[in-house]
Amino acid sequence: MKRKRIYEGKAKVLYEGPEAGTRVQYFKDDATAFNNQKKGVITGKGVINNRISEHIMTMLNDIGIPTHFIRRLNMREQLVKEVEIIPLEVVVRNVAAGSLSTRLGIPEGTALPRSIVEFFYKADELNDPMVTEEHITAFGWASPQDIDDVMALALRVNDFLIGLFLGVGIRLVDFKMEFGRLWQGDEMRIVLADEISPDNCRLWDFRTNEKLDKDRFRRDLGGAAEAYQEVARRLGILPEGGPRDMKGPEVMQ
Ligand code: TMP
Repeated sequence: MKRKRIYEGKAKVLYEGPEAGTRVQYFKDDATAFNNQKKGVITGKGVINNRISEHIMTMLNDIGIPTHFIRRLNMREQLVKEVEIIPLEVVVRNVAAGSLSTRLGIPEGTALPRSIVEFFYKADELNDPMVTEEHITAFGWASPQDIDDVMALALRVNDFLIGLFLGVGIRLVDFKMEFGRLWQGDEMRIVLADEISPDNCRLWDFRTNEKLDKDRFRRDLGGAAEAYQEVARRLGILPEGGPRDMKGPEVMQ
């Protein structure tokens, strides 16, 4: 069956869904960093991220945080609600790392006095520049009310994820979210979209500070696939026979 491809990103493809108002989100093994300058493949990543994101989004829905997630369809695909993506990458940080450390000269690993929310404008050609609420409202990417809703949701997700990961011996250093507008008739509400996985989180082993996320790929540390599997294993979502069972047949496209 040939489906209509709505959008192809670096790590995922979005297809038209089986019913109006739905989309199918397909997870690739492709990995990129530094805005596509570095390209590679993390074998099995798509399968694991599909599972991890399903696990997290299901729990978020259960505690009343609205998300686009409906259900997982197969090894690499999930059914999601069609939303209008707000063109912002919303980053929440608990510990200094990455671009915050570079920008402000704060050593990686420094605990932040409070969680910090940052916005980046989603525009590959501009390298996703950091923006403030002033830019966001002046250029109409989101309204002040949208920003209030996004901030409140982002901090609730952060609080939940800090606890979830702490319970399995992982420190949530920072992570990136995307939000979308979900239209139901004339009513609009903002929901969490995209994915939450080791592709867009910094996850450090609580005891050893070993990196269990995409920084293994970005920084050429090796062992990225194993790190993603370790996160899935700790969350209790690796299938019975271990990672070998996660390959599965490719889905027809
Ligand atoms: P940063 O320190 O490079 O700004 O990244 C902050 C967090 O956002 C980190 O967990 C990685 C994630 N991230 C993405 O998911 N996509 C991106 O394009 C970038 C730059 C970061």
